[in-house]
Amino acid sequence: MRCFRPRSSKPAAEVEDVLEQLQPSQSQQVSRDVRDAVGAGAQQDSNHQLSRIMRPDDANIVGNVHGGIILKMIEEAGCIVGTRHCNAQNGDRCMAALVRVEKTEFLFPMFIGEVAHVTAEITYASKHSLEVQVKVLAENILTGAKKLANKAALWYVPCSLQNVNKVTDVPPIKYASQEQEEQGRKRYEAQKLERLETKARTEEVVPPPPNPEDPPKEQHTVGFSQSSLIHLVGPSDCTLHHYVHGGVTMKLMDEVAGIVSVRHCNSNVVTASVDAINFHRKINKGCVVTVTGRLTFISNKSMEIEVLVDASSLVEPDKYRAVSAFFTFMSLDKDNKPQPVPPLKIDGEEEQRRFKEGEARYNQNKAKRLADKKQ
Ligand SMILES: CC(C)(COP(=O)(O)OP(=O)(O)OC[C@H]1O[C@@H](n2cnc3c(N)ncnc32)[C@H](O)[C@@H]1OP(=O)(O)O)[C@@H](O)C(=O)NCCC(=O)NCCS
Repeated sequence: MRCFRPRSSKPAAEVEDVLEQLQPSQSQQVSRDVRDAVGAGAQQDSNHQLSRIMRPDDANIVGNVHGGIILKMIEEAGCIVGTRHCNAQNGDRCMAALVRVEKTEFLFPMFIGEVAHVTAEITYASKHSLEVQVKVLAENILTGAKKLANKAALWYVPCSLQNVNKVTDVPPIKYASQEQEEQGRKRYEAQKLERLETKARTEEVVPPPPNPEDPPKEQHTVGFSQSSLIHLVGPSDCTLHHYVHGGVTMKLMDEVAGIVSVRHCNSNVVTASVDAINFHRKINKGCVVTVTGRLTFISNKSMEIEVLVDASSLVEPDKYRAVSAFFTFMSLDKDNKPQPVPPLKIDGEEEQRRFKEGEARYNQNKAKRLADKKQ
């Protein structure tokens, strides 16, 4: 969810300002990324570019495009390029199902009227999975100014159209160099190790919903801002397999995280980043999904929200945890600068444990960002 106030009537000029404020190395990186993303478009079969103008229903009431909309576009581009590649050889027809999104940072805000150019490129293939790297450029078509809004890495697995539970083989890809292939293999091995840990989290028992009879919670407690959204999965949410697109789920997750953070800090908020998400379970058409967000950790100026997605059939009450992820939001003052957020009032051992774990993730992410900046 993006909830900026409009920064000015000239967003493109602002982008130039922001680019100027970057360290030289960062601004070179941004322009290199912009050039790469634009230039890469039509050159290879393993690339795909889609473009769309941002409309009012993509944005919040003050004109900023929701983070969830961007995640949905990223996933659409990845699904197209992945499915096309996996059907490039004879054999079962298949759809590329999203199984993982690496940690994603939102670099610059996007506004109504700008054109989003989403470029997806296959960067690694294992026997049964594909890595797709996606870049999102926002173009102001009045001035021609472009900015890199987002970069993401997604993993897809081809599932047979005949039998959705059958994972088919991925055709090999050509690498520009041996080094590129080696780097891809390292990323593949690293995510394989990391996701074992999140699989265990997905198997946690689904918490009971809050009782509406409970007395109102005190402001700035976890219970006060905890929010849920219930969605009936319809055909337009689904792939050819009749299972929910990962992008649809991410959009709902971002919406809930945005609601939680606004309830806590009562100000404009912005999605800053999303930690790696693993999609271990499918969600079928006709299911009811309950998306719940709760605050886990608060630093001086950021809020970490854990979002849990539980699915059940319409008639049977048994739920299963389809996916969970951590979103980080920031609160903005009237000049769109990050501002301190109210501290979280912790109640009980469970909340204390989650807070400590969130703090460890925050410190780890911060150290990594600093290290990346130094490179
Ligand atoms: C796709 C799916 C059927 C794979 O099931 P699985 O039991 O993990 O299958 P396997 O263990 O045989 O793994 C198959 C391949 O997928 C890869 N994979 C599975 N889960 C992954 C994940 N979270 N991230 C990256 N790769 C993953 C494995 O590495 C393997 O590839 P490899 O053999 O080249 O290493 C299952 O994960 C699934 O249904 N996920 C939900 C997909 C979906 O509906 N997405 C949208 C959700 S809203």
